[in-house]
Parts: sequence; structure tokens; C-alpha cells
Amino acid sequence: MGRTGYILYNRKERKSREMYYDINLDNIDINAAPPTEESARQYYFMAKCREWVKDFEQKQGRLPRSCVVNMGCQMNARDSEKLSGILETIGYELTEDENADFVIFNTCTVRDNANQRVYGRLGHLNSLKKKNPHMKIALCGCMMQEHSVIEKIRKSYRFVDLIFGTHNIYKFAELLTVMFESRDMVVDVWKDTDQIVENLPVERKYPFKSGINIMFGCNNFCSYCIVPYVRGRERSRNPEDILAEIRRLVSEGVVEVMLLGQNVNSYGRNLARPMTFAGLLREVEKIEGLERIRFMTSHPKDLSDELIQVMKESKKICRHLHLPLQSGSTRILEAMNRRYTKEQYLALALKIREEIPDIALTTDIIVGFPGEKPEDVEETIDVIRQVQYDNAFTFIYSKRTGTPAAAMENQVPEDVVKEGFDKVLKVVQDTARNRVALLEGQVQKALVEEVNQQDPSLITGRLSNNTIVHFKGDGSLIGQIVPVYLKECHGFYYLGEIRDESCAQ
Ligand code: SAH
Ligand code: SF4
Ligand code: F3S
Repeated sequence: MGRTGYILYNRKERKSREMYYDINLDNIDINAAPPTEESARQYYFMAKCREWVKDFEQKQGRLPRSCVVNMGCQMNARDSEKLSGILETIGYELTEDENADFVIFNTCTVRDNANQRVYGRLGHLNSLKKKNPHMKIALCGCMMQEHSVIEKIRKSYRFVDLIFGTHNIYKFAELLTVMFESRDMVVDVWKDTDQIVENLPVERKYPFKSGINIMFGCNNFCSYCIVPYVRGRERSRNPEDILAEIRRLVSEGVVEVMLLGQNVNSYGRNLARPMTFAGLLREVEKIEGLERIRFMTSHPKDLSDELIQVMKESKKICRHLHLPLQSGSTRILEAMNRRYTKEQYLALALKIREEIPDIALTTDIIVGFPGEKPEDVEETIDVIRQVQYDNAFTFIYSKRTGTPAAAMENQVPEDVVKEGFDKVLKVVQDTARNRVALLEGQVQKALVEEVNQQDPSLITGRLSNNTIVHFKGDGSLIGQIVPVYLKECHGFYYLGEIRDESCAQ
């Protein structure tokens, strides 16, 4: 066993943990028994998988290609980056083309339409697999935590090679070795886990910005929502691990981070040494070289005055807060188990607007929750009018088997839902248009994210408040924060001009 192999087993020493990033797979003895310590174990299996990749390369005269398809929220997107990191480490070439040698769908099941999309796309993969004898297909993510889904795939989608869930994603390398050695479908889905495995490789989509998991799971059990069932109980990462990860990312050129959790406001409660989310933000703020901090999502019931204060004083926390409302009717909020009233939500939103006037507030709204009446929809519309959201994601209620709301008898007929939905959407669009236009004529800093796809003479940047601006420039500015004059508002985005003068935000 090589020297690095030895260090791998010594996880108790901080120094050795940081060395994971410099691991040389060549130094791992794959003929020895697999280590029991989890990160070391996964690097061992990466080394094993790499042998398989080398063998493929020798026989085919090319590297195998893999395609990771993310179908869910930011948390899923971050998981997809972890899957890509492992695939790249073992030697796969990454591609966005599903006509590849290994395709993995990282699924979402928050609403039924997300679910149905997977089945549709699997049909297409099957036709590709018939033409490529090397092709392997894997499914993972939230949808795989549902028993009925696994049954359906076992029965009707037998060409799938590997299925795993959200709790054992850190076992990906190990599961790949099982898949390579097996001729049958490999299924490994866990009910829950209390493990948080640090220091596995990650392949980031953007070099200049990154999501960071600060916690996993959810304890809130909103009555419509499947997430607590498929993501398990809330677990916070240690602040030292989060800060070390951000410092490392900053040293690699990241200027903006998005702290991720289903309810970041309850961060740190279950740590051995409890810490508030506001306390964590204060520490993140101190990281030199980091320019922007975002976070997602904030449950209104847990949003503290301390957080408002930290946001107000911060130079780095972006002027954007996503504050899901779900419904403006206290009666429906109670049935949803949201644990705030219309009045409490309004008081909170208005307090935030007063303390931080330039903040953009966005939200999520569900229309058609069981028992919702037109009067309830009017209450939702009233909140939208009062808060004046900068943007709102409006969803039609989707019945998720196993949630308390699915068993409620007073499900709303489709046509009534549609009518309410259209009404809400119209108000959202009207108010958002007014809010977004407020910055016209100002100079604001934008983080340049990409060359515009429709017009390559333009580049696209994101303002602190999350609004998009397109302006003349070239790709060399990607990843830089530049001042932009916001010349014309076009509904939800701006057309602007780059400026060299200094500006406020
Ligand atoms: N943890 C986050 C949201 C995660 S899911 C939060 O609490 O804000 C993202 C959004 O999907 C939710 O805010 C909700 O608006 C929507 N959603 C969740 N379950 C849904 C369902 N069964 N039907 C329709 N929309 C749903
Ligand atoms: Fe779902 Fe509610 Fe948890 Fe958000 S807070 S993930 S809506 S249960
Ligand atoms: Fe979907 Fe899972 Fe996220 S259900 S919304 S991918 S946590």
C-alpha cells in the first residue's frame, strides 16, 4: 500500500483530510481490502473504477463518455456536480450528449410532472442503448426514494443498470464497481442516513460560482411536500467544513457562493456546538477574496432579526431573499402546516423591506391546495400586491402519495385550480415587472456569467438582486464583477452598457 493510502486512513488528523484533494489514485492498493473509513473507501473504489475505464480505453481506443442529467433543484444540481467529479476522477470524459457510454438521471419528484418527464426520457435512452452495446444507464435522486417508482422501473424499464437514492450518493464510486461487475440491475436505496461524507471530488459547472451544501434534509413536513420523505431528517454540516470548502473554492477562483439547504434558517440547531445561520454568515463574510454570498431557501417561520441585521450590515450578502409564501390564506397555511399566518408573513416581509430597501424579494406559491376556495386565492393575491415580489414561482398543487395533503378529501377540481392559477400568475407578472424596472438608469455591479446564446456580441451578468442584464462585451469578462449602466428594462431583464466608474452595489 502506498503512502497516500496510509494517510487516507488517518481521518482524525485535519491535515490529512485536506490532503484528500491531492489524492493520487495510483498510490491506492486496489488489491488490499477496502478501507472502512468512508472517504478513504470511496477513493479506493474510484481507483478500482479507473482500472475499468483504462480497460475500456485500451479496447475501444477512446475514453468512455458520461452524461449527468440534473432534473431537480439547486441541491440536486450540487449532487450532480459531485457525481460528475467522481466520473471525471475515474477517467470519464464528461459530455452533455445523452448518446454516451454512461448516462445518469438525477431525478426530482417534488411535483408529478417532474416524475413523468423521467419516464418519457428513459424511453429515449432505451433506443440509444440498443445502438450502443457499452451503454450503462443509472437513476438516482429524490424520485428513487419512492418504493412505487422502483417497482415500476424493475418491471417496465429493465434496461436500467443502476439505481440508488439520495442517502447513499456518497457511495457512487462503490456502486459503480458493483454495476461493472454485475449483469443484473443493481438497486441500492436507503431509508435514511445520519452520515455526512466530506471531501469527495466535485466537478463544478461554473468556475466562478458554486453552491455549497450547509445542511441536508428537512424536518418541516409541510403537508403537501414530499421532500422530507425523500431527503430524510435535517442534518447540518460542521461550520469548519463549510468554511474550509469555501476557502478552497475561493482559492480556485470562485467569487460567489450559494449556501444551500431546504431551510437555511434552522441551520446549526442539531450541531454538537449549535450555531445560528446568521452566525455562519458572519464567518463566511470574513473569507477574503469571496465577493458575493447567496442562500436558498429561507422558511419564514425561522427567519430571525439577527439574520436581517447581518444581511443589512453585510457587504457581501446579495440583495435578494427568497421567502416562500405558498399561500396568503391563514386557513390554508394552517392546513399546509407552514406555521405562520398571513399577518405574520406580511409583517416579516414588510420589516425586511423597511430594513433593507434595495432587497429583491422572491417567493414560491402553490395554487389548488386541497380545500382552497376562490377567497383563499384572493388572500394570496392580496399578499402579492402588498409585498410586490420581484419574482414568484407559481405552482399548481400536485398530489404526492404519502404526504398528509394527498389523503385530504377536498381536492380542488382542475378547472377551478387553473382559473386561480392564471389569476395569480397575472398579478405576479404585473407586480414583478414594476419592481424589476426600479433600477432603470442606475449603475450596478454585475457578475458576468456567460456569453449570450442568441447574440454572441452580448454577455450576460447577474446583479446582486438576482436580475439579469445583457450588455456588449466578450467572454474574457466571464467570472468578473463589472459596473453596468442599466439602460432599458425589458420585463424581467435589462439591456445595459458596461461602465468603468465605481458604483454602490
Ligand atoms: N424547502 C423549500 C422548497 C423546496 S420545494 C422551501 O420550503 O421553500 C420548492 C417549491 O416547490 C416549494 O416552495 C413549493 O412551492 C413547491 N412544492 C412543493 N411541493 C409541492 C406540491 N406537492 N405541489 C406543488 N408545488 C409544490
Ligand atoms: Fe418541503 Fe416545507 Fe421542507 Fe420546504 S420546508 S422542503 S416545502 S417540507
Ligand atoms: Fe426535487 Fe428533491 Fe429538490 S424532490 S426539489 S430535487 S430536494
